[in-house]
Amino acid sequence: MEKENKENVMEKIVSLCKRRGFVFQGSEIYGGLAGTWDYGPYGSELAHNIKELWWKHFISEQENIFGISSATIMSEAVWKASGHLSGFTDPVIECKKCHHRFRADHLAEENKKKNSCPDCGGELGEEKTFNLMFPVGMGSSSTDIAYLRGEIAQGMFVNFKNILDTMHPELPFGLAQIGKAYRNEIAPRDFLFRVREFDLMEFEYFIREEDWEKYFQMWKEEMWRWIERVGIKRDMVHELEVAPEDRAHYSKRTVDFEFDYPFGRKELYGLAYRTDHDLKNHSASSGVDLSYFDEKSKEKFIPHVIEPTFGHGRTLLAVLVSAFREDEMGGETRTYLALPASIAPVKAAIFPLLKNKPELVAKAREVYKLIKKEIPQVVFDDNGNIGKRYRRQDEIGTPFCITIDFDTLGENLEMKDTVTIRDRDSGEQKRMPVSELVDHIKSSIK
Ligand code: GAP
Repeated sequence: MEKENKENVMEKIVSLCKRRGFVFQGSEIYGGLAGTWDYGPYGSELAHNIKELWWKHFISEQENIFGISSATIMSEAVWKASGHLSGFTDPVIECKKCHHRFRADHLAEENKKKNSCPDCGGELGEEKTFNLMFPVGMGSSSTDIAYLRGEIAQGMFVNFKNILDTMHPELPFGLAQIGKAYRNEIAPRDFLFRVREFDLMEFEYFIREEDWEKYFQMWKEEMWRWIERVGIKRDMVHELEVAPEDRAHYSKRTVDFEFDYPFGRKELYGLAYRTDHDLKNHSASSGVDLSYFDEKSKEKFIPHVIEPTFGHGRTLLAVLVSAFREDEMGGETRTYLALPASIAPVKAAIFPLLKNKPELVAKAREVYKLIKKEIPQVVFDDNGNIGKRYRRQDEIGTPFCITIDFDTLGENLEMKDTVTIRDRDSGEQKRMPVSELVDHIKSSIK
């Protein structure tokens, strides 16, 4: 895709998201709050389906990964011990003239060379470090500072002993969660890509130090399987070995998975070898022993950690970019989202051929209720002509459209209780008995 074309695609995706109720600007009626986005009805379904699939892939289908859900406000002591209060920073530069602030490492070469502001051409000030953590005043005394979590990983580390005591897991094992993280980004941008509040899907895999390379490789391969399963185009994802000077303060090796977003190749996921950095520091700071006792070998030690991390908003955006299609159908341009059925917000739409024929509407509602009992994410639509209804469903990625016509009612006896079922991607229709619909739709949702 050429640059102009890519920008065009991004604009079209953002516009589709707004027009069809996927994503809205946060606090929109008050002019918007930078770096925050709200999910509408279809966006929430899609977001929820991605989380559910991730949970299935990395928790339910694994033998030794435990899911947790920890508080999003955490004590200052946690972030001191983890190193975030000192090390979770970005370099910032402010323009002396317009006072706009920029990430120093994101400035164009030209601006760096001339020391000039990209917005007004004014002189840039000194580079400073800016901490991304969000402090919150707790209770009635504003001196009691806590922090909105900058990463969800710390929830897993501070609960490590609770899990040992309650679940008695054997190494290697993982602790996983999905939930909000907050970062006071200097320059939020590119729609869902760089925001100040976002969901993370992440796990900490606790291992013996000597096994780290083996499990690093194992989870790297599993991350690729996830990428395909969730519907991100494999050939748009690229591994990047992160240079030591660019790694997070806790990591001894990081591989980023970068995606070809329309605005450039940027980080989608990360895989880090966090060593024993977090458990060791929390043990020392809290005074609570966070070591693991191996019953078989009688050894006691602090486990090391491999951490695969998945930004949820970045996943959703990569899924949309991968699924966005435009083609010609029936002499018209149509837009559709080729989403995997497992994450599509609506799995099937049920239509009566005509709205003004009560017997068709009644039969269509009967079929709709029958399917909805088994597959809740289906909709009934009798608004506008059939062509328009197809287009509406194509645009939100509904894999199947089912139409009830006069043959369904028995006008043609041989076709009684059959319907047409239309495939979103090819637009092809075939006749199918009503009794086979549920199995047919379910078989596409893996
Ligand atoms: N526990 C490790 C950790 O949090 P990270 O690379 O800082 O690692 C994890 O962030 C993932 O979160 C990234 O790979 C990216 O997908 C996503 N992410 C990071 N900052 C983000 C932001 N400002 N907006 C949206 N997603 C973000």
